[in-house]
Amino acid sequence: MIKVAVYDTKSYDQHEFAKVAAELSITCEFHEFRLSATTAASAHTADAVCVFVNDQVDRDCLAALKEAGIRHLALRCAGFNNVDSVAAAEMGIVVTRVPAYSPHAVAEHSVALLLSLNRKIHRAHSRVRELNFSLHGLVGFDLFGKTIGIIGTGKIGRLTAQIFRGFGTQVIASDPYPATDWAKAHDVHYLPVEELLAQSHVISLHLPLTPESYHLLNRETLQKIKPGAYIVNTSRGKLIDTTALIEGLKTGRVGGVALDVYEEEEGVFFEDLSDGILADDELGRLLTFPNVLITAHQAFLTQEALAEIARVTLTNVARLAGGEAPLEGTAVS
Ligand code: NAI
Repeated sequence: MIKVAVYDTKSYDQHEFAKVAAELSITCEFHEFRLSATTAASAHTADAVCVFVNDQVDRDCLAALKEAGIRHLALRCAGFNNVDSVAAAEMGIVVTRVPAYSPHAVAEHSVALLLSLNRKIHRAHSRVRELNFSLHGLVGFDLFGKTIGIIGTGKIGRLTAQIFRGFGTQVIASDPYPATDWAKAHDVHYLPVEELLAQSHVISLHLPLTPESYHLLNRETLQKIKPGAYIVNTSRGKLIDTTALIEGLKTGRVGGVALDVYEEEEGVFFEDLSDGILADDELGRLLTFPNVLITAHQAFLTQEALAEIARVTLTNVARLAGGEAPLEGTAVS
């Protein structure tokens, strides 16, 4: 039987993986701890290892995996910035990932965050549970007729734009590789990013984190947004300079912020820290604003996405163990 050691797992991962593993005659050894050079020896009885976004798969870790006989590293996520893929190739370890699991999940969560933030659903919910039925401070705005700026019109950005079009909004977009036919079909207009920032009532980020996009929203660019604009970020925390964002919120330049990702989320998001002391002062400050809504990287978390992640990851485990190539488009080169 093929055995895969699965790291940094939570109950929701284990449930879907166990279901698909049984169908493919694979045994999963679930670990709650992360894979790193220190923990890699735990893979010695496995044929493959499976990791998530926070496992540290550097050169030392890969050398330890190779020593343990591992020839396949399966990422159960799209991004692979936590893996030294050059070292993996040198060592003959095949790296696979799940390039897209449910762009709908992330697009729908982006819109859900904006609606909750704008219509103060999060505040109203806690208020009503305290038998406080006052409407004070709960005034939102109609989305109808507003301008939504989508930065990055890949799989998720396009779906988010389409949902927003359904609200009767104008959608403008910015992307170095415009999807012109799609834009025409959905009445979306591409603009340079500065113009998008100046015109949008809501700016929604759907681009990857790259050296060029790091701190896309910073002290300078936040000065160019429409005063009081709302910002939604479900992509990567480091697209926004948090210090500048807090300044923008304090001055009112930024009208509201909905985040599913945060610059320093590693070690915080996905964990229950409710018994401890929050060491991150900027996250602590963000949590004090009534016009900031944060979820802890859960945009992907739907049944459909989890099932697809398990299916693609474990199918690749079975294929590589049987000497076949990974599913098309899933190999990290
Ligand atoms: P994609 O690769 O389909 O699309 C990304 C788009 O961004 C491409 O059209 C690309 O041309 C564009 N782009 C690249 N650099 C740009 C720039 N500087 N300015 C404007 N556009 C730029 O990616 P997909 O699947 O739509 O995902 C988007 C992002 O969503 C991912 O990079 C990832 O960071 C994030 N994500 C977040 C999840 C969550 O649970 N919060 C889950 C999955 C993805």
